[in-house]
Amino acid sequence: MNKMIACLIFASSLVAIEATAADLTRAREIVEEKCHLCHGTDGEASSVIYPRLAGQHKEYMVKQLTNFRSGERRGTMNALAADLTDDEITALAEYFNQKPALKHRIHDEEFAAVGKYIFHQGNKFSGVAACASCHGEGGVGTQTLPRLAGQHKRYVSAQLEDFNSRKRTNDNAIMHSIASKLTELERESVALYVSGLE
Ligand code: HEC
Ligand code: HEC
Repeated sequence: MNKMIACLIFASSLVAIEATAADLTRAREIVEEKCHLCHGTDGEASSVIYPRLAGQHKEYMVKQLTNFRSGERRGTMNALAADLTDDEITALAEYFNQKPALKHRIHDEEFAAVGKYIFHQGNKFSGVAACASCHGEGGVGTQTLPRLAGQHKRYVSAQLEDFNSRKRTNDNAIMHSIASKLTELERESVALYVSGLE
């Protein structure tokens, strides 16, 4: 009986978080009005300083947008998220999640190889954990761990600096302890490496 109730609750929560076609149409309208200038209509981002959202995980984006709205994560996004409803946030996250992720072409393979080592092995001398242990071997992440594959190098490296200085204000504990141990060489090379992952 308890199992039955649990199943019903689970099924109804799935219905609640799934955006309808109408929600996605509304999301597209919001994107064209308020988001595309920086993130692009398909989440590809118009400049390397703005994160690519295409293919990013839905739950992760819902959390970040909710945190921008409440001010827990501070930055440019606060004013943009201020008027979004919960349903709009869910629909926007689903909208961008459905867009195909892109990757960058790497020109400096030797430098990217330094980042590849850090990403998969970490640095046992300074105690940096392998990024792959959380963000996945291919950098694709999970619902709660952001996708890094194909992200702009510049954005990744800036976020690592913000985690280090705690300028990134929400949930920074884990990433602060990692970013504070990275040298500039490690930070820049790992950012380059993930930008080339698919
Ligand atoms: C003026 C440029 C700009 C506009 C317009 C904009 N954003 Fe952003 N967005 C940013 C920046 C910059 C960041 C990175 C956070 C930071 O550094 O403050 C960001 C971060 C995000 C993130 C978190 C990504 C991550 O990987 O953590 C999401 C989700 C997001 N924006 C969604 C949206 C949505 C939805 C809209 C439209 C309602 C929007 N943005 C409009 C600039 C913009
Ligand atoms: C122990 C798990 C763990 C490890 C190891 C880890 N991360 Fe993270 N990382 C996280 C979590 C959790 C978040 C999301 C924080 C949040 O929810 O706001 C994150 C967020 C990030 C972000 C922000 C992405 C975005 O879209 O804004 C970047 C960049 C990042 N990590 C890079 C790295 C790199 C590079 C390494 C390796 C040097 C690494 N991480 C290792 C758990 C980890």
